[in-house]
Amino acid sequence: MALVPVKRRRRAAAGPVLPEAAAGPGRFPGVVLCLVERGLGARRWALLAERARAAGFCLHSAGSAAVTHVVAEQCSAEEALAWLARRRGSATGSVPSAQTEPGTSTALLDLSWLLESLDAGRPLDVEPRHRLPVTSSETPSPAVPAYGCQRRTPLVHPNGVLTDALETLAQDAAFGGDERRSLAFTRAASVLKALPQRLGSIRELAALPGIGEHCRKVIQEVLEDGSSAEVEAVRRSEWYRTMQLFTGIFGVGTQTATCWYREGLRTLADLRAAGPRLSRQQQAGLRYWEDLATPVTLAEAEAIGELVRAEAWRILPGTTMTLVGGFRRGKPTGHDVDLLLSHPEEGKERALLGPLVTRLEQQGLLLYQQSQPNTFGLEPSSSTMDRFEHCFAIMCLALPGAGGPGTGRAVRVDLVVVPRGQFAFALLGWTGSRHFERELRRFAGRQCGLALSNHGLYDPQREMFLPATSEEEIFQLLGLDYVPPAERNA
Ligand code: CTP
Ligand code: MN
Ligand code: MN
Repeated sequence: MALVPVKRRRRAAAGPVLPEAAAGPGRFPGVVLCLVERGLGARRWALLAERARAAGFCLHSAGSAAVTHVVAEQCSAEEALAWLARRRGSATGSVPSAQTEPGTSTALLDLSWLLESLDAGRPLDVEPRHRLPVTSSETPSPAVPAYGCQRRTPLVHPNGVLTDALETLAQDAAFGGDERRSLAFTRAASVLKALPQRLGSIRELAALPGIGEHCRKVIQEVLEDGSSAEVEAVRRSEWYRTMQLFTGIFGVGTQTATCWYREGLRTLADLRAAGPRLSRQQQAGLRYWEDLATPVTLAEAEAIGELVRAEAWRILPGTTMTLVGGFRRGKPTGHDVDLLLSHPEEGKERALLGPLVTRLEQQGLLLYQQSQPNTFGLEPSSSTMDRFEHCFAIMCLALPGAGGPGTGRAVRVDLVVVPRGQFAFALLGWTGSRHFERELRRFAGRQCGLALSNHGLYDPQREMFLPATSEEEIFQLLGLDYVPPAERNA
C-alpha cells in the first residue's frame, strides 16, 4: 500500500485557535458551534471541527460571544462551563466576561448532538437527552467511559463471576445467530471487567454505561443468589454444550455446528462417523482435537516463535517475528500462537512465506496448513478479516526427549506476513482482544469519521490513509489515551 503523505497540520500550541472572520457564516444562520477540546484531544478536535465545517457549520473559539451551541464529550455541564471560563480568562484580547458568559440561549450539548446533526446534514433540534448532565457535587461523574478502547481492562479483575455469567449468555445468543443480543451481553461484561473493585450492589450500575435491563436482572440475581437460573439452564442445555464442543473444533463455525446439531449429531464420535462430509480443515481439526483443546503455554508459544524466526532467517535474514494475540496481552495460555512476520525493508517480505512453508513442511513440522496470498487493495471486501498474506497452520511442537519428525504435540499457529508500512496497524489489530478491536473500529468510525482496519486508518473525506509507525501514534490519531497491551483485555 502506498501511503499518501498527510499534510502537516498546524500544531495547536495553546489550544485550537479559530480566526472567526475566516470561518465564515456557515450554512445555518443562528447556529455557532464551540467544540470543547477538553476530553476530545487535539487530534480528534481537529477532525471533528473539519467535519463540521465541511458540513456547513460555523465554528467559533471559546472566547466568542456569538457561540450558541457548546459541544463537549464525557463532561458535565459544570465541567464544560469551567473549561470555557478558563479559556476565556487566558484568551488574549478576550472580550469582557459579562459579554462572554454563555447566555440562557447557549445550549450545553453532548457530542452525540453534533454527530447526529452531521449524519442528518443539518443542526438537529435539541432534545433533553442531548444536554450535558448537571451534576451536584455529591454525585460522582460516571467513571467508566462508553467505549471499550477508552478503558483500561486488565487480564485479572474482581468481577469474574458476573462476567462469566454474562459471557455465557453472549455465547448462547451468538450460537442462536443473534449477533446484536450477543454484543449487548459482551459489552456489559466488558464494562464490568474494567471496574477496579467488586460490584457491591445493583445501585452501582447507575454510573455504568451500556448495561441494559436483561443484564441488570442477571447481575442482580448473581449478586443476591450467587448464580443466575437462566445462565445455569443455558450451561446445562444439550444445545449449548454441543455447540461449544463443535465450534471449538478448528474449521467449524456456528452455522456448520448448527447444521450438525439439527442432523442429530452430538459427539466427536458422531462426527468421525460422518467423516466424508468434513472439509480438509475440519478433518485436521478433528484428528488433532485433543492436542488443540489443550491450552498452549507461553513457553510453548515462545518456542514456536523462535523456531519460525530461525527458519525465516535462513530464507530472509532480518525478518522480524512478533508474538501477538492473547500472549501479548499477558495471558499465560492461549488456544493458538499468533505470529506477525515482517522485514525492515518494505517489499522484501513478499519472498518469505512460500519458501518458509516449504522448509517447515520438509522438516515434518506442518501437520496442516492453508496459505493465502496478500489480496489487499485488489477487490473491495466488506469482511472485517484482513487481507495479509498468511498461513493458518497446525504445527508439530517436538516434546522434550521425543523421537523424530512428526512426533510431538499439535499446536494451532497463525503466521501473518506484514509489509513494514502497515506494521503498526497489524500489531494493534492482531493484539486484540476481539472486543477491544471491535470497539476501536466503532470509535474510529462514529467518533472520528475514520475507517480503521489491520491495514491502516482511512480518512474518507481526504481520501487518504493516515500513516503511523507505532501503536501510540494510532491512538493519538484517534484522540485516544494510549492503552498498553496488558490493559486491552476488554
Ligand atoms: N484477528 C484478526 N484477523 C483474523 C484472526 C484474528 O484480526 N483473521 C485478530 C483478532 O481480532 C484478535 C487477535 O487477532 O484480536 C487474536 O485472535 P485469536 O487468536 O482468535 O484470539 P486471542 O485473543 O489470541 O485468544 P487466544 O489466547 O485464545 O488465542
Ligand atoms: Mn490467539
Ligand atoms: Mn489466532
